[in-house]
Amino acid sequence: MRCGYHGWLYDVDGQCIEIPALGEGATIPPRAKLRSPAAIALDHGMVFVAIEEPLTPAPSLLAANDPEFQIGDLPVLTTRGSAALLADNFLDMAHFPFVHAGTFGASEAREVPNYSVERAGYGFTAAYEHEFANREDPGVATGQRPLIQRRRLTYRYSAPFHLELEIEFLDAGGVNVIGFFLAPEDDETVRIYSSLWRNDLDGSLERMREAVDFEIAVIEEDLRIQSKYERLEMPLDVTAEVHTRADKTTLEFRRILAEFVEKAEAEAGRAGEIRTPDLSAPSRAL
Ligand SMILES: [Fe+2]
Repeated sequence: MRCGYHGWLYDVDGQCIEIPALGEGATIPPRAKLRSPAAIALDHGMVFVAIEEPLTPAPSLLAANDPEFQIGDLPVLTTRGSAALLADNFLDMAHFPFVHAGTFGASEAREVPNYSVERAGYGFTAAYEHEFANREDPGVATGQRPLIQRRRLTYRYSAPFHLELEIEFLDAGGVNVIGFFLAPEDDETVRIYSSLWRNDLDGSLERMREAVDFEIAVIEEDLRIQSKYERLEMPLDVTAEVHTRADKTTLEFRRILAEFVEKAEAEAGRAGEIRTPDLSAPSRAL
């Protein structure tokens, strides 16, 4: 790998082996070495890199490892925003009829049914069943099934910013999974990695392409709302905002993220104790 700025060349272990500006055969400074990540995990076609020692396991999606499902990757979106506020948005259950009126939200119920959240480690699962108008089901036109059908939504979150929504069509059959993996670039920019897994498209690439395009339109609706935020911080103090019973997922998300941040800061503090004497050494201060 060669750096695009000064052309320094690195081998696969991260050791610099050539500095063009010094000429051929020059001695390479020992510190010209890239740091290796603390951990790397591969799952469902993605590479997860932990620069520091990871505090949670890499996310794993059940559907992604099930051969019944076909995958559709959305293009990676880089946008102004905060990973926390976006995760909050994707976990939110009350915004469909308002934010998504242009795609699927117009016929969605405004009232969020009662549901519970099950915590596990630095993550949770929340699920509920409700009735909805299944206008895409060809069985409705043929009279095989009624328009109003049952659907189960299951949200799974794992810290810091990985989440999935599983939609099970209990009458028409079929499962759709939407995965979101949010990578903050800095305080104001975030990358959104998102994929769909579906077992109801009979392997059709065309139908998957349509599903991906539809999902992009849905995310664009979310991003329109996100772009209105002037401040991108999300309060982790659950008393700082007004929450209702409809916000159990996003409340639990804040609690978990607060614990996660606390743990990360404690780990960083411990690492700082070791580094402190080094940093304050007079030879380094100059
Ligand atoms: Fe949304």
